[in-house]
Amino acid sequence: MLDDPGRMADIAETAEKDAALPPTAIAGISGYTGLRLLPMLPESPGGDVRLLMRPSTARKDPWRTDPRTISVDLLDEKALEPALRGVEVIVCLVGTTRAQFRDATATEPAVSYENVDIGIPRALARAGKKAGCKRFVLLSSWGIESSPGAYPSAKRAAEDAVKTSGLAWVMVRPSFIVGEGRAAPKALDVVWAPVRLFAKGFADDARSIDAKDLARAIRRLTLSNEWDGQTLAGRTLHALAGA
Ligand SMILES: NC(=O)c1ccc[n+]([C@@H]2O[C@H](COP(=O)([O-])OP(=O)(O)OC[C@H]3O[C@@H](n4cnc5c(N)ncnc54)[C@H](OP(=O)(O)O)[C@@H]3O)[C@@H](O)[C@H]2O)c1
Repeated sequence: MLDDPGRMADIAETAEKDAALPPTAIAGISGYTGLRLLPMLPESPGGDVRLLMRPSTARKDPWRTDPRTISVDLLDEKALEPALRGVEVIVCLVGTTRAQFRDATATEPAVSYENVDIGIPRALARAGKKAGCKRFVLLSSWGIESSPGAYPSAKRAAEDAVKTSGLAWVMVRPSFIVGEGRAAPKALDVVWAPVRLFAKGFADDARSIDAKDLARAIRRLTLSNEWDGQTLAGRTLHALAGA
């Protein structure tokens, strides 16, 4: 049934999966958004996709046996540089929350906004520049421009670090990322529905985005440099996901 939208999306996704990605390194594939991007990536050893993750995660299934996995301290620029050699596009999906903060251990650095939300994209961008990478796609967040607080300011610092790295960049700023097990903020979308009548663009930026749609948009941004130098919020991301 070619008029079945679900079937059409599956066909489009299969065709996209087969489209050649440039050599790409992804950090944060094990997260909520990353796991939705994973099935959209080429699996063949011929496709150059590298999944960069911290050693404690790389030791777990399914990453342990995935030939694309690279176990690396994502804050260590010297270790990242060889891992990024030959890569064209860096995609960074990492982030943490206050609830996950913890002190450094003997084997891993502290978990904080400073280390994870700022330090990792900054280290990736600096090492990527030295390694000869060309572009950086950063998953940031909507509403960070002028909001006070540690999280928005960390996201702003991360964006600045990528923008000043010398790499071409795209900033991806979704509002709430929803999907299975994460539906709650979607309820807020009713707040934006009336706003949409007179400010469609703003309301589309504010409303939640399904993680699978977001992953589809990120994959398109990895494939094409058409949006380089742009900061993309919901209105563009929803369109890219459905295009
Ligand atoms: N959730 C939302 O509604 C929302 C909205 C707008 C923007 N964002 C932003 O979007 C990004 C992705 O969100 P998400 O919900 O998909 O994230 P998530 O499920 O929390 O996943 C976070 C990813 O970051 C990695 N990570 C965290 N701490 C790390 C560390 N210390 N070292 C190495 N890797 C680390 C995790 O790897 P491990 O498996 O090793 O832990 C995981 O792959 C984040 O930057 C977030 O701030 C989220």
